Order: sequence, then C-alpha cells, then structure tokens
Amino acid sequence: MFLGIDVGTSAVKALLIDDNSVTIAEADVPLSVSNPHPFWSEQNPTDWWNATCQSIDKLKSENPVALAATRAIGLSGQMHGATLLDANDAPLRPAILWNDGRAKAECDELDAALPDLGQTAGVATMPGMTAPKLIWLQKHEPDVFAKIKTVLLPKDFIRLCLTGEKVTEMSDAAGTLWLDEESRCWNPAAVAASGLSMDQLPKLVEGSSVTGKIRRELATRWNMKPGVIVAGGGGDAATGGIGVGAVRHGDGFISLGTSSQIFVASDKYRPRPEELLHSFAHAIPAQWFQMAVLLNGASCLSWAANLLGEKDISALLARTEHQHRAPSDVIFLPYLNGERTPHNDPYARGVFFGLGSDTTREMMVQSVLEGVAFALSDAQSRLHAAGTHCDLPGVIGGGARSRYWIQLIANIMGTPLARYEGATKGPAFGAARLGRLALTKEAVEDVCQKPAIDEVIEPDMAHYTTYQPRFAKFKRIYSALREEFT
Ligand code: XUL
Repeated sequence: MFLGIDVGTSAVKALLIDDNSVTIAEADVPLSVSNPHPFWSEQNPTDWWNATCQSIDKLKSENPVALAATRAIGLSGQMHGATLLDANDAPLRPAILWNDGRAKAECDELDAALPDLGQTAGVATMPGMTAPKLIWLQKHEPDVFAKIKTVLLPKDFIRLCLTGEKVTEMSDAAGTLWLDEESRCWNPAAVAASGLSMDQLPKLVEGSSVTGKIRRELATRWNMKPGVIVAGGGGDAATGGIGVGAVRHGDGFISLGTSSQIFVASDKYRPRPEELLHSFAHAIPAQWFQMAVLLNGASCLSWAANLLGEKDISALLARTEHQHRAPSDVIFLPYLNGERTPHNDPYARGVFFGLGSDTTREMMVQSVLEGVAFALSDAQSRLHAAGTHCDLPGVIGGGARSRYWIQLIANIMGTPLARYEGATKGPAFGAARLGRLALTKEAVEDVCQKPAIDEVIEPDMAHYTTYQPRFAKFKRIYSALREEFT
C-alpha cells in the first residue's frame, strides 16, 4: 500500500493505492484561506498539519488494515507558499500563498537586481512566487524576517512534521525563483537577492528519492510499521502529471481545480518567461515541463454557486446546460484572484459584462463556465507561441466532473479533450506513486501509466467559429480594464 498526501488550498487529501495503482481509500479534510487585506492570501501551517493528521485518522477509522500496510508515503502540495520557521521550527506567521498578490513592487526590484532571472528560474518574477514574498517581509515585517531560520514550501512543512527532516525536491523548489532549473540546484545569486543565505533553505533532492522515515510516535498512532519511508514528492502540478502519466515529452493535461493549469511535459528545459509560461523541473529526474498557470478555475464555479445560494452544483450545471442555446450574452472575466498566464496581473479582478434585466442565474453560470474556457484558450495561445503542443490533453481536477463544461472548453479551444477514469483523484494519487518509486526503484514508465480514457470529446467546430467573436471581445474587455484594476 502507498499513501499519497496532497496539501491543497481547499483541502488536505490522503489517499491509499495498492500495488496495482488501484485507489483503496481516500479522505479529505477542508481548509480555509484568510484574506486579511486586499490581495493577501494566507493559511496557517499548523492547520495543514492538523488536517493532514485528521485525514490519516479518517483513513485509519475507515480502513485500518490498508493503512497499516502502508510501505511508503509521497507528498504533494500547493506550490510557492512561503512557510517561515523560527529557530525551534515553529511557524513565525501564516504562510503567504501562491495566489497572494502583495509583492508586485518587490518583483520589479528583483528584476532590476537580476535581469536574466527568468532564464534560470524558468518563469517571470510574479508575486505568487516565493522569492518576492521574502523581500516584502524584509521591508514590511523586519522583526519576522530577522527570526527566519528556515523557509519551507507547504508540503515540506508536512514532511518536517512527519519525519523531522528539512528537505524539498525539484518540482516544488522550481516555484521559488531560487532554483537553477536546468542544473537542478539552488541558484545562490537568486537566494542572496532575496536577502537569504543558503543555510535557510532545505536540502534539495529528486521527487522520487527517499527523504526520511516516519517518526515513531506517528507510526504507532496510525499502526504503521516503523521505518515507513517518505519520498520527495512534488508540487501539485508535477504530481498531477505523475498521476496521469504525463512523464514523457509532449504528454499533457489540463487541470481544473482551485487554479487551472495547462501542463506539457518536456525532455529539455525550455524557458519562455516572456510568454509568462512556467518552465519547471519535473518530479522525476531528467524531465521538465512547461505550464500555463491560471489563478482561477473550478473555484469560479463554486464562488458563483455560493453567491447565488445554490447548494447543489450538479443540479445548477444541469439546469444551465438545459437552458444553454447559444454563447451567453454576458461575458465573465474569471480573474477573481488576479492572473498569471497570460497577464501577470495580480490586481485583475472578476467582471460580469453585459448584464441585462433579462439575465438569469443560469446565464450567469454559463458565462462563468465560458469565461474560464476563454482564459484557458488565451493561456493556450502562449504555449503555442512557444512552439509547445499537446495532442490530446486529458482534463483532471474537480471541474472534470462536468462533461458539459469539458465540451464547452473543447468547443472554445477548438481542441479534442479526453475524460479519464478517476480524473478527480489528482495530485494525491501522483504523490502515492512517487512514494512507490522511491521505495521500489521501479522504472518510471512502469509505475506512472496513463489512465484509461473514458471518452474523447471532440470540439464542435461550428460552435468554435461562433465563439471566436466572443473570445475577441473577452480579450478586448480585459485590455480596456487593465489600467482600471490598479
Ligand atoms: C502553480 C500554482 C498553483 C498552486 C495551487 O504554479 O500556483 O497551481 O500550486 O495549487
């Protein structure tokens, strides 16, 4: 049995797979995000740890035999979060998350100090990355900054709690701006430009390496054998890729979760920061990926449903589909948390354009689904500009539950999309596979097989054509408003 733990933004998920990669048990514990100021996004590291313990406790109560048979653990997590520990390894303040937009000015400072950083770090300096957050802390919370002994990423804080080791791996280090992506080692110049010294960073390994053993008292709590190993694991983009077998050049997928990504694996490091792509080290050795990152995704649908007082999202989607006649007259800009690809604009915000007295809630929901699809199409054009293509991306994440939404996305992007078996398992599943790789040293291809395709959804090219003027309008509305957001 292999245990995968994903420290997400909306929940911690723990999932057990057997030797045939069949999911035996899973448990989720919800998390909340705090936004104490505009553009801030924070979570308490101790909440991650409590939710992790609760999720494994749930597995124990539901399936004690399977949990006790755990042979290895893999970790996955939301990327980029600055988790700041003092000399006793206690968190100094809430972690500053991937969708936090406070450090825009500090990005400009970092660019001035290291103009070519994007070529080494694989991505433009954007406020979501870890490095500018440290410069912000140095300026705005100097007392906290002075006490920082160690900076970790979210899942690596969980590793510290599980094993006592301070280690990260390539695919999560990739999102800090401190990694030299091509050489797969820390870049001392970038670390120094953030006001840190190398001894404040964790040790760096590959995602499929062993990083430590579970602490004895935790093994006892969950009835596991002492000495169960914990693998490096990966950032949630990379572990999503491991989960769907996106491990070789050209393999790709679209993730529709709290955020969205278009991910394409690559056999070489191909930086394209000018396209606002993320070119990062993968969680397996000698592989990289290129990724367009949208800071909004299925979260827009849950936000709209919540606002409209709709408790049953499936019923809401069914009504919306039933009433769908043509592209919605309402256009929705889905930038509730700002945007990375293709705008690098932490200040962008959501917009409903074209509301009329005849607008119904279903029309608004349709416009939300279309708005996310337009944003994906916009991001895809940056991958195409970089010469990166993927033949048949599968869709994973919570949004993959809706066939209607995937068809809309296929129509708007003009590209066939696959629906996978078990597509909502996501990063925790990939993390469990990394646990297995670290323990057994099997070949990556043998462990990271692609899931069976349930259905290929072909785009309706007549709809694609109808949507193009709407897509052009969507882009014009953002351009017209860009200055207004700041
Ligand atoms: C990737 C990114 C998000 C987070 C949250 O660059 O910022 O996908 O990892 O899941």
